[in-house]
Amino acid sequence: MTNLDTFKIDISKAKQSKIEQVDFDNLAFGRVFTDHMFVCDFVDGVWQQPKIMPYQTLTIEPSARVLHYGQAVFEGMKAYKDVQGKVWLFRPDQNFNRINKSAARLAMPEFPQTFFFKGLEELLKIDHQWIKSGIGNSLYLRPFVIATEPAIAASPANAYKFMIICSPAKAYYTGKVRVLFAEKYSRSANGGVGFAKAAGNYAAQFYPTSLAQKEGFQQVIWTDANTHENLEEAGTMNTFFRVNDTLLTAPISDRILDGVTRKSLIQLAEDLNIKCEVRTVTVNEIKTAARNGELKEIFGAGTAAVISPIEAFKHGDEVFELPEVKDSYADLLKTSMLNIQHNLAEDKHGWRYEVK
Ligand SMILES: Cc1ncc(COP(=O)(O)O)c(C=O)c1O
Repeated sequence: MTNLDTFKIDISKAKQSKIEQVDFDNLAFGRVFTDHMFVCDFVDGVWQQPKIMPYQTLTIEPSARVLHYGQAVFEGMKAYKDVQGKVWLFRPDQNFNRINKSAARLAMPEFPQTFFFKGLEELLKIDHQWIKSGIGNSLYLRPFVIATEPAIAASPANAYKFMIICSPAKAYYTGKVRVLFAEKYSRSANGGVGFAKAAGNYAAQFYPTSLAQKEGFQQVIWTDANTHENLEEAGTMNTFFRVNDTLLTAPISDRILDGVTRKSLIQLAEDLNIKCEVRTVTVNEIKTAARNGELKEIFGAGTAAVISPIEAFKHGDEVFELPEVKDSYADLLKTSMLNIQHNLAEDKHGWRYEVK
């Protein structure tokens, strides 16, 4: 067994970097990957020697369980470079805890903390040139675990691969988005896997989201599966609603992802003396607020998108356009958060983690 305290990562470096071929000013999200990746296999009940190797294709058998039963979980996090060239992560402990929570729900083994942090740090040191400084620039990090055991039997695998791949990123969405409040389809249900970053949660949204897109709405805001009366979250973002000067966001549950951005924004709102209520938010109250001119903003919050302002929503046959606001909470919170992430502001909650 690999010793968790004294282990060293096996490192084999790429012969040549691909970085010169990348246009960092025109990056489509998640299309370009850095020179290296982190890989650790789970065999016979034990996580094996972790490795960093050139980014490359995987070889798995067609019968690998992940391909049939979707036994896969992942994370999304970012590394930032400040003006002095120091590299930072934002609350990585949250992602570590969450990937293991997701893994447990999918009957997958826990990944050791030392491997996770050492893996990230070594990988970022090797590929540090891929992290560009400046607000809006980051390196998106994608840790994930897949069931590799070759067996088409619908039960948990006994072989897995944990990996981290990295992709240089700008903010995910540019501009404001139009959304549809879900009335028929659901993203998650009580007792299900909505709180986990399980791969299948995302595939299940593609079809209803494509229907929304045909109507001119880029995203769906999911409602509770039982009644479709309560607003929950978007495809890859938690949601916030500003009614007059109060922010509202749904409480997390077994249907909603416990977003790192969401919980950070709730804290930042408190720091900025913005009232934020964590409670059930109903479709009806948001429609009423929109009609009365009390609905000032809606925005999504997530690592990839940071904060994504929403300009309109549809429910039933009605489309509600949101007003332009001067003192946007979305802008204020986004700036506060980016400044912390990029080491431009005091980090009074100890959220930044330096990669040394
Ligand atoms: C379903 C879902 N909700 C919310 C979020 C936002 O979470 P975080 O802020 O941790 O990125 C994500 C993205 O990770 C997500 O996939």
